[in-house]
Amino acid sequence: MKTIIEPFRIKSVEPIRVTTKEERAMLIRSAGYNLFNLHADDVMIDLLTDSGTSAMSAGQWAGIMQGDESYAGSPSYYRFEQAVKELMPFKHVIPTHQGRAAEKILFTVAAENGCTVPSNTHFDTTRANVEMSGAEPVDLVIAEAKDPANEHPFKGNMDVEALDRLLSEEGAKVPIVMLTITNNTGGGQPVSMANMRAVREVCARHRVPLFFDACRFAENAYLIKIREEGYAEVPVPEIVREMFSYADGMTMSAKKDAFVNIGGWLALNDDDWAEQARNVLILTEGFPTYGGLAGRDLDAIAIGLREIVEEDYLRYRLASMQYLGNALLRIGVPIVRPVGGHAVYIDARSLLPHIPPLQYPGQALAVALYEEGGIRACEIGTVMFGKRPDGTEQEASLDLVRLAMPRRVYTQSHVDYVIECAEHLYARKDSLPGYRIEWEPRFLRHFTARFTQLI
Ligand code: F0G
Repeated sequence: MKTIIEPFRIKSVEPIRVTTKEERAMLIRSAGYNLFNLHADDVMIDLLTDSGTSAMSAGQWAGIMQGDESYAGSPSYYRFEQAVKELMPFKHVIPTHQGRAAEKILFTVAAENGCTVPSNTHFDTTRANVEMSGAEPVDLVIAEAKDPANEHPFKGNMDVEALDRLLSEEGAKVPIVMLTITNNTGGGQPVSMANMRAVREVCARHRVPLFFDACRFAENAYLIKIREEGYAEVPVPEIVREMFSYADGMTMSAKKDAFVNIGGWLALNDDDWAEQARNVLILTEGFPTYGGLAGRDLDAIAIGLREIVEEDYLRYRLASMQYLGNALLRIGVPIVRPVGGHAVYIDARSLLPHIPPLQYPGQALAVALYEEGGIRACEIGTVMFGKRPDGTEQEASLDLVRLAMPRRVYTQSHVDYVIECAEHLYARKDSLPGYRIEWEPRFLRHFTARFTQLI
């Protein structure tokens, strides 16, 4: 069969409020042309993020009712711990309220002033938490990752030679190496098993622990299965266990590949770091058997973790991302290639060459997608990264728009609708206006800035 169906039925639905183009033009204008300022019920297809937006299964909702809210020693914790250890057999599993809380605790324990923390590419919150500890984050992704049109199947890979050089020159300053799987910032691109193995070898030789930022581990595992030689017949849970056998620990946002709306954890083997981490946890999150979560959240994660490694789900998940990516390419919309695990990234700078980077082509496209079809996407470009610490502006290396797909939420006809909107926009792309920032805060301007259209 060439049709890959959504491997689930819908038992409970949320209505989408259908709006008109005129309404949307008015709504986005009063939001200062910033999609973060919209009320979510004014959005028809919300592709702002795949984080915390999953649909939970009937099994997970049933698990919620089994949640035990004991302050200490809840059975929910032990079910959670067991589910994590089935896939990621680390000695210590420490629950947190989301991924960045695990990062904060890890770098409080592991890093300090004057250190360097390399990664393939640090996600924003990881980078910020490394910097908060006084350490310097360094990105060592392979060169192919910087070219959106390059078809390398594992553009999340770390440049192993560069890592070896860094550790040889200043290994004493590197307390930990991170690897983000999949590499969100670089387009949701996977890391190959061969690369994980090679990074492990370099880290072991220099006696530096290796941690995974593993939010999208299952998508990474399935991309290994379909793209890397020797894994086609290996069951996904086994691929996952091999991946984590190369790491000394992990941080996790369960809001992605565990199908829950909130949750995360830090897992590791080192007893001393684990003890220190639990001490910080008690100050900032809660007692070690609940972290920042309710018992019921821990049960939802335990069940979600078993569902996320099901191959029918992963086949559908990756095929539906591919379906959207291929359709956009057919229309002529340039995207980051190959399509990664959780999102399609449109290269807005190439699509809209008449809008210079400092007039924000990514923002222009994101606003146009909302006006055209009520679709909310996220600019990842000069609005997000273009402001220097001294307040002046520079163009970002790329101007992308991320269409991130919530898990198990939208059907193929929703995706077809997105494709049709893209087609309409493509036909009038040369008339889309650029933008000027009318007001912005000092930091993280993309969340709250207000824009004016340049007509
Ligand atoms: N690491 C990666 C690779 C992420 O993509 C995220 C979140 C985090 C860490 C932090 O996890 O949100 O649970 O604290 N990414 C979201 C996104 C926000 O939209 O890509 P968190």
